[in-house]
Amino acid sequence: MSETISVNQEPNEPIPNEPIIVDKKPIVMELEPGTYLWCKSGYSSNQPFCNGAHKGTGFKPIKFEITEKQRVAICQCKYTNKAPFCDGSHHNL
Ligand code: FES
Repeated sequence: MSETISVNQEPNEPIPNEPIIVDKKPIVMELEPGTYLWCKSGYSSNQPFCNGAHKGTGFKPIKFEITEKQRVAICQCKYTNKAPFCDGSHHNL
């Protein structure tokens, strides 16, 4: 008896094991209060934010909220342990 496994993937599309490193340094930006989706896959063309390009990769964006206007350093290497903010992990890449 065979078992069918369903995955959210286009046929013949490889499943990456690692995210794409967009840059080995954070992007510093001033964000207004609001809810944001940080791109975890590195596939978005709207870095550092999600544009839906992760579809089929197995990665999902990370939602975060900014409650007051502030300057933040957003991770672009995608290896931070404090997503979406840079924690210096890019130094180990
Ligand atoms: S840019 Fe990813 S940890 Fe700094």
